[in-house]
Amino acid sequence: MSRRSRSPSPGSERLAKRPRLEYSPLTPEDYKNGVVLAPMVRSGALPTRLFALKHGASLVWGPETIDKALLHTTRTVDPDTGFVSYNGKSKAIFTTHPIEKPYLIFQLGSADPEIAVQAAKMVMDDVAGIDLNCGCPKPFSTHGGMGAALLTNPDLLCGILSALRQALPPHISVSAKIRLLPSQEDTLKLVERIVNTGISCLTVHCRTRNQRMREAAQIERLREIVQFVEGMGRGIAVIENGDCLGWEDAKRVREVTGAHSAMIATAAEANPTCFSPRPLADLELTFIPNYIRLSKYIKNHWASTKFCTSQFKGAHLEAQRADLTRVRKALMSAKSYEDMDEYCKPWNGEEEWRAIVDAIEARGGRPQRSAQAMQTQVAGGADASSAQSQPQAEPSSQAVDSALQSQSRSTSSAASPAPSVHTPPNAPLEADPLLAPRAPMHTVLMPVPPLVSSEDAQTPTPAPASSGNSREGLVL
Ligand SMILES: Cc1cc2nc3c(=O)[nH]c(=O)nc-3n(C[C@H](O)[C@H](O)[C@H](O)COP(=O)(O)O)c2cc1C
Repeated sequence: MSRRSRSPSPGSERLAKRPRLEYSPLTPEDYKNGVVLAPMVRSGALPTRLFALKHGASLVWGPETIDKALLHTTRTVDPDTGFVSYNGKSKAIFTTHPIEKPYLIFQLGSADPEIAVQAAKMVMDDVAGIDLNCGCPKPFSTHGGMGAALLTNPDLLCGILSALRQALPPHISVSAKIRLLPSQEDTLKLVERIVNTGISCLTVHCRTRNQRMREAAQIERLREIVQFVEGMGRGIAVIENGDCLGWEDAKRVREVTGAHSAMIATAAEANPTCFSPRPLADLELTFIPNYIRLSKYIKNHWASTKFCTSQFKGAHLEAQRADLTRVRKALMSAKSYEDMDEYCKPWNGEEEWRAIVDAIEARGGRPQRSAQAMQTQVAGGADASSAQSQPQAEPSSQAVDSALQSQSRSTSSAASPAPSVHTPPNAPLEADPLLAPRAPMHTVLMPVPPLVSSEDAQTPTPAPASSGNSREGLVL
């Protein structure tokens, strides 16, 4: 991988032209041995995904986007920066950058195979995989037959997955995220059908549709499901979701469930550095200013930045309570980035951007796999009937094996974190710890389209409660 030479003059270079990642399409193996960021409407914004990747998330799911809403968007690419924006009537409904593409799973909400395929084809050049949301219990999703409603309509659920698998090119992986059904037997029956559609990965949110988030996830039910899927011999990944707290906790979760990876939502919403063995603490001082600087630099919509930062809650170790309170108060009353001047100046988000790009590039992409291997992976999926009788073999050529081993080393966050991903330990607090070391100001602002502020009428999103911090309104 070629490394870019540093320009001494910040702002004079075309930042997003940098990433030239070489990577192979996702296979089921790429979903394994990792800790991944869950799909989160509102909270899974681009800056959060970028920080999650910087701090060790092996893959990141984008927030659920309804297929019909996507069809009404126009895709724009900033020629200088490469930022990609899917613009709805009034706002962007999804924004991404090529740097995250090898690790980005786009989650669709759908209740129609044809529309799902159309929507997936619209975004497939910007993502590594397409995931179908089969678990959202909120009325805005279920009333259209999407989300958790699919759990009781397995024909439609599997019809959408099969259609996606058949219509999308082999290099776009297809996956599904489901919830548990009340009965284990029914869950296994559903899982069998889903696996036979040829998906690469199944995420199981270990709660039932009617379970509230405050109730513990039933992760002990997953072991049997994992064994069942493994017994089907297709080698697909099963990801545990529900109550995983971070990198360390993922070990426990995987031990209890036998799952190949763990997916984190709430804990990552509170601390996007939780994917690291050494997550940041005292976030008001160590993380929030950098998050805001980066968000301003990439022109993330202020409303989105404010919402996400208001969710951050880390351990408090060294900071003085008064310092933390100062930041929180400023954040609560801020109406724009400028209102955070006191805490975020200098606005050197470019440095954070460089750090993120470096961390992601340092992973080295994914090893190239043979076209034959990719073909083998996909061929088993599309035809459910033939797949049922013929368990699919994983790619087995020597080259592919060694590539997989090397990938497993580089993305094995739960077993051993990617050596290139560093989370700085909490720096010793200085007199005013919110002020980062001075760096030249970036004078040329990148013309990045605004990010979704989550209020686009086309894309129903859970409204935050009046405090802006309530969990109840946001649990999908
Ligand atoms: C703010 C928020 C937004 C969410 N949005 C989505 C979504 O877009 N799609 C989805 O499948 N699940 C969504 N979920 C559910 C999570 O992905 C996850 O299944 C659930 O929170 C359980 O994981 P946890 O115990 O780690 O929080 C959301 C959860 C939260 C907290």
